[in-house]
Amino acid sequence: MNPKDLENLYELPVYPRRDLVLVRGKGARLYDDQGREYIDCGSNVGVSNIGHGREEVAKAIYEQYLTLGNCYGMFYNPVRALLAEKLISLSPARLKRVFFCNSGAEAVEGALKFARASKGKGEIIAAMRGFHGKTFGALAATWGAEYQEPFAPMMPGLKHVPYNNFQKLNEAINDATAAVILELVQGEGGVRVGDKGYFEEVRDLCDKKGILLILDEVQTGFGRTGTLFACEQFVEPELLCVAKSLAGGIPMGAVLCSDAIKVPVKSHTSTFGGNPLACRAALATLEVIVRDGLPERARSLGGYFLKELQAIKSDRIREVRGLGLMLGIELKEKAGPYVQTLAEKGVIVLLAGATVIRLLPPLVITREEIDKALSALKEVLA
Ligand SMILES: Cc1ncc(COP(=O)(O)O)c(C=O)c1O
Repeated sequence: MNPKDLENLYELPVYPRRDLVLVRGKGARLYDDQGREYIDCGSNVGVSNIGHGREEVAKAIYEQYLTLGNCYGMFYNPVRALLAEKLISLSPARLKRVFFCNSGAEAVEGALKFARASKGKGEIIAAMRGFHGKTFGALAATWGAEYQEPFAPMMPGLKHVPYNNFQKLNEAINDATAAVILELVQGEGGVRVGDKGYFEEVRDLCDKKGILLILDEVQTGFGRTGTLFACEQFVEPELLCVAKSLAGGIPMGAVLCSDAIKVPVKSHTSTFGGNPLACRAALATLEVIVRDGLPERARSLGGYFLKELQAIKSDRIREVRGLGLMLGIELKEKAGPYVQTLAEKGVIVLLAGATVIRLLPPLVITREEIDKALSALKEVLA
């Protein structure tokens, strides 16, 4: 049987599948089982910021697996130590410690728990259209009946307010509020960039009321928006959730924490969290991101991509928006059919809600590759 039939037969059908069998990737190119080449404008939903098939990461994990692949957090390990130091040295000044885990949802779970434990309070405010993952805690913070309803009841204590609306957030806060969790650019929610002024007001309010600010940078982290962390362009949080591209495609998440975060020993741990294999991959990935100036690359190429997209004259387009190489084309109609047509033209893109085409190319994408993607997008949308 071919891979499609086997997967359809043996896996729980939870993914909205595309009719593509991907077998290989290099840089910003992907290849299917028929040998067809695609320009990747999805990065496996924001994972492959340094591009596919990186020898630096392959070499690092090969060597590390032969040295020591796993090492539970009860034991010290030099590779984990190096990564912790590196991440803290690269992150905003307020963030002093890291908790390692294995995914974005797990980073959010950790942050929600750390916020409750540190404040001794249970309420957390999230935003409408926000996306934070699908495990129970993260799911309660994620917006959307389609995700929540099949799994009701939700974890209590979560409230949703309109995104980018300070007044509504202010009104929702009370004495039981422990934290606010937000994305700086809502990814799944339609590539919506929050206003700097909004985040500054939220930061001020949190400071005044002693509330923790959790920023979810699972999608915006590691150069995607033009700085290593998007929060460098906005405000600093007490808790910063990262994952996706942290370890170059090897599963890993992390919560970066300020001194305000205090959690009892043993209360939150993870068998695979901070395993040396993922840590080595992350060290190699961060080296590439910093050495090759990928955040700056995302800023300049993203600016070019955005400008060219905004110049497309099409009655089908409502708005083009984004930050760095995180771009959204909002259509006046459903975007799904265009995803298929673009793949037929050799460009892989993502959706963000029903009407938004989301572009998250690897940050190593070249100007020529962007131009190729642009000409397919123009053909399809104009
Ligand atoms: C902002 C944000 N937070 C959390 C998650 C969940 O990450 P994961 O799928 O690794 O659990 C995602 C995934 O898309 C995300 O975009």
